[in-house]
Amino acid sequence: MSNMNELNVGIVGACGRGASFKAACDALGQVAIRAVCDANAKELSAARERLGALEQYTDYAEMLEKAKLDAVIIGTPMHFHVPQAVAALERNLHVLSEVTAGVSVGECRQLVAACKRSRGIYMMAENYTYSRPNVMVREMVRRGLFGTPYYAEGEYIHELKGLNEVTVWRRKWQTGVDGVTYGTHSLGPILQWMPGDRVVAVSGVGSGHHYRDPRGAVYENEDSCLMLCKMASGGLVKIRVDMLSNRPHAMTNYQIQGTDGCYESARAHGEKDRIWLRTRCKDMNTWLDPAELSDEFLPDFWKENMQRGQAAGHGGGDFFEILDFVDAIEGTRPNPIGIHEAMDMTLPGLFSQLSIQDGGRWMEVPDSRAW
Ligand SMILES: NC(=O)c1ccc[n+]([C@@H]2O[C@H](COP(=O)([O-])OP(=O)(O)OC[C@H]3O[C@@H](n4cnc5c(N)ncnc54)[C@H](O)[C@@H]3O)[C@@H](O)[C@H]2O)c1
Repeated sequence: MSNMNELNVGIVGACGRGASFKAACDALGQVAIRAVCDANAKELSAARERLGALEQYTDYAEMLEKAKLDAVIIGTPMHFHVPQAVAALERNLHVLSEVTAGVSVGECRQLVAACKRSRGIYMMAENYTYSRPNVMVREMVRRGLFGTPYYAEGEYIHELKGLNEVTVWRRKWQTGVDGVTYGTHSLGPILQWMPGDRVVAVSGVGSGHHYRDPRGAVYENEDSCLMLCKMASGGLVKIRVDMLSNRPHAMTNYQIQGTDGCYESARAHGEKDRIWLRTRCKDMNTWLDPAELSDEFLPDFWKENMQRGQAAGHGGGDFFEILDFVDAIEGTRPNPIGIHEAMDMTLPGLFSQLSIQDGGRWMEVPDSRAW
């Protein structure tokens, strides 16, 4: 880092998702957004002003060449994540990349190789691992409240046929491929609830129905795609991703079952998350409200930074993500979603796409640590 007190970052995709990182950078006070980059020349100056950057670029390679950066935040469409991350890593810049890490197994291999060669660190910005309930469940798992977790479910249901027409890359990369194309929000938190475990095999199956886009072409993605994941421990995880069905959004559905308890998130607006714990509930019919447990189980670092976190939006998640990125760069805390954790979250979805083409055949998911 050029100055231990200040990390100079460039944000690519600054007119879209990239802009959402500003509040967290400001709240941390240790990150300067030096440059912004976006292919959208018309809106770029306004984005530069909003983000308080000194420099703007429509060409990413030029930003890497000319701006004096320590790190890049990649908020571009999914198929740019790997090429842009690799280009930054080759310059030994640190990378915080939006999800998913990559769109093919081949390019994931390239990314892992680039990480090995680079002095820069790579972190994937899987922000759903930072939501307050998910962080709390992680802490409860860590303290053994659920016993040994052996089953989990995650669902991302986000009807985006309209959004597809505005952010047209989604039509190809999220709904133009059959299988789980956007599974990290669901699988990411679950993997953190099963520490030390990983998905070793997947079977992808679809619901058979295909909607049509406004031009009359079928979405290649089936409306609901399931991915069954066999864990190294023998456990089972079920992931459902549905970006097409006509229904209200439900992007944060989770369940975990362990030998001593279970957690079920609310499925619909107005419902409550609930927890059953063998050691705390008087019988098998009594649920606990997680809100009653937050004093006890929200991690200290979360409580200590709550105010700054809330100011940065998304219930604090964005702030803690940037804090982790900076701490990982400084080496003060481990990188929670480094390259291999990013692969653990991304590769199962890519293999579910291959499985679904092959009638749901179980496919082995490689461990990137062996690449
Ligand atoms: N973690 C989350 O909760 C979350 C939420 C939304 C989006 N995302 C992810 O963020 C990414 C962007 O999504 P979005 O909804 O902002 O899309 P978007 O299309 O609205 O924005 C992407 C931006 O990138 C720019 N861009 C495209 N190609 C570029 C290139 N080669 N160089 C520079 N700029 C380029 C576009 O002009 C646009 O401004 C996706 O990967 C998506 O999966 C994550």
